[in-house]
Amino acid sequence: MHQLKINVVCFSFVCCSSPGPQGKPGLPGRDGLPGMKGPQGEKGNKGERGEPGPQGLSASVDLELQESLQVLKHRITKLEGVLTLEGKITEVGGKILATNGKEVNFETTLKACEHAGGSIATPKNQEENNAILDIVKQFNRYAYLGIRESDVPGEFQYLDGKPLTYINWYASEPNGKGGENCVEMYTDGGWNDRKCDQNRLTICEF
Ligand code: GLC
Ligand code: CA
Repeated sequence: MHQLKINVVCFSFVCCSSPGPQGKPGLPGRDGLPGMKGPQGEKGNKGERGEPGPQGLSASVDLELQESLQVLKHRITKLEGVLTLEGKITEVGGKILATNGKEVNFETTLKACEHAGGSIATPKNQEENNAILDIVKQFNRYAYLGIRESDVPGEFQYLDGKPLTYINWYASEPNGKGGENCVEMYTDGGWNDRKCDQNRLTICEF
């Protein structure tokens, strides 16, 4: 804003007889007060990518990063403690098992587990089988496992096609020979090959 110079003229006397000639127009008035703040403008275009930052320390020697990791691990451990205490999750080896309590067919189980960021429970040893069994018994409902019949009738494999490394078939199972492509866990932990269209307890691993 520019400054206005105001000239002041002083008269030593004033003539009062008759109105004199029209004076010169006065000087322009002062600037008004600033107006109200206008509305927010539209968002500008994204700027160009900046130069790369300075080279950081490798994670293994970055003490600040190590400290943050410790804090995060501690918080995760506490969360797991709460969830375990409340019976929401079971930890076995490195796996976390959980159910939503719902009974759905095999395909829907796969989708539900995937949607939750996990996969259908797949026991790879007796300890894991027992952990899944605990949930099956708690709900008193059979559950599908992450095992399917291969192209060879009577032969079963993991969902990624790899051969089974642990089995716990119930007596005389599998017996479906191409007619029962999925596997359910009984309430004693034994496995039965079964059609995939039954409603079974959803148990996922993470
Ligand atoms: C019986 C059989 C089992 C089979 C099922 C099918 O329970 O023992 O092997 O999968 O029937 O309904
Ligand atoms: Ca069977």
